[in-house]
Amino acid sequence: MPVAAILLAAGQGTRMSSDLPKVLHRLAAAPLVAHAMAAARAIEPERTVLVVGHGGAEVAAAARAIDDEIAVVTQAEQKGTGHAVLQAQPALDGFEGDVVVLYGDTPLVRPETLRAMLEARAAGADLVVLGFEAADPGGYGRLLVAPDGSLAAIVEARDATPEQRRLTLCNSGLMAADRATLAGLLGEVRPDNAKGEYYLTDVIALARARGLTARAIACPEVETLGVNSRADLAAAEAAFQARARAEALANGVTMTDPGTVWFALDTVIGRDVAIGPNVVFGPEVTVESGATIEAFCHLAGCHVSRGAVIGPFARLRPGAEIAEDAHIGNFVEIKNAIVEEGAKANHLSYIGDARIGRGANIGAGTITCNYDGVSKHRTEIGERAFIGSNTALVAPVRVGDGALVAAGSVVVADVPAGALAIARGRQETKPGLGLRIIERLRSLKAQKAAS
Ligand code: UD1
Ligand code: CA
Repeated sequence: MPVAAILLAAGQGTRMSSDLPKVLHRLAAAPLVAHAMAAARAIEPERTVLVVGHGGAEVAAAARAIDDEIAVVTQAEQKGTGHAVLQAQPALDGFEGDVVVLYGDTPLVRPETLRAMLEARAAGADLVVLGFEAADPGGYGRLLVAPDGSLAAIVEARDATPEQRRLTLCNSGLMAADRATLAGLLGEVRPDNAKGEYYLTDVIALARARGLTARAIACPEVETLGVNSRADLAAAEAAFQARARAEALANGVTMTDPGTVWFALDTVIGRDVAIGPNVVFGPEVTVESGATIEAFCHLAGCHVSRGAVIGPFARLRPGAEIAEDAHIGNFVEIKNAIVEEGAKANHLSYIGDARIGRGANIGAGTITCNYDGVSKHRTEIGERAFIGSNTALVAPVRVGDGALVAAGSVVVADVPAGALAIARGRQETKPGLGLRIIERLRSLKAQKAAS
């Protein structure tokens, strides 16, 4: 059965107290909407429709940057969840199959749960609602289950009787149904409720009146966590990280202190990678099997190959490509640079817009001066080259294979393969002069104190 996904993200998110649209707030280094999109991708939708409203242009741009095939529709006025789903219908023209409605602000729903909803559909329920047992049911819609176990209706907290409000099985907001059936039911929804909105939830009672069956399936409450405030966002971050850490451990990643390792939505870590304490992964990081990330490293937009050792205290920025068995040590920053197999930059360096050849050694304090104040320029270091400590490589510049650069050099011209470059003031040594100067300074000081 083909599937389409509808993501609702038109709401204002007033309680975030923010100028940024709610679904663009970041969770695990990705906008909230990216999480909902990732969840939807797991059921391989033929089409995905995003309903935007507040901050629509910004939200649409962020979503398209992740998936350029996503259809974006605008709900100009937020007249309720039912109204929002109706806005998506034109984008589903010609689509026959099941639709799954998800919320852009509900980032933690698991693929298995969405698949279970579709299985319940396949097993004969016309509408499937995802519910959960709420620790604190508060403002959630309550699921009214009929004696035969089917779902009779959903009643919003504001419209519920005191007795209904005592129910703890709540509506997550996620729903699956045949597209045409759902559209038909939505056409009958009226805004005759406490909020004066078109409620998606009303389709359940309408379906029952037509002789259709609805069913609720339940998932753990954490999956339904919706982000309405900064406190919710922090809680969602904690829940995401707890899950990501458990998954990494289960997949064969060693972490000495998992609670201090922070993953992004798209972090990929291979088997037998060891990660020390206090490591942060920004977006787009891949670490291959058998690499080591020591304590206190920050990585983003980079690729670390097998056997490479990163840190402690290293920073890999976007475009850092660390090849097999390369070593990046303490207080070394790498940006947009390839560090080839077995090359080493172990101490206090900045390597930007560069290629470090296989087996090359970058001495402590080496800096690629890649920026002239206007443009960026490249530095090329050949295989097995040796760059002495405290060298400034003023780009664009090339150091050939096997070349040697003396410590303290400021390299402004290319160094041919195998050459030695020394680019610093020549040392002069004056026998005895150091001692004489010290003695002179001491006697001057003594004279001053006596006068
Ligand atoms: C909704 C459900 C409630 C459920 C709860 C779970 C309805 C009527 N109620 O209530 O049963 O327990 O979610 O969190 O469906 N949205 C739009 N356009 C609109 C209104 C909402 O796109 O006109 C989007 C919001 O951006 C959000 C989602 O729909 O992503 C839910 O909207 P919200 O107003 O938070 O619904 P609740 O009142 O919390
Ligand atoms: Ca809500």
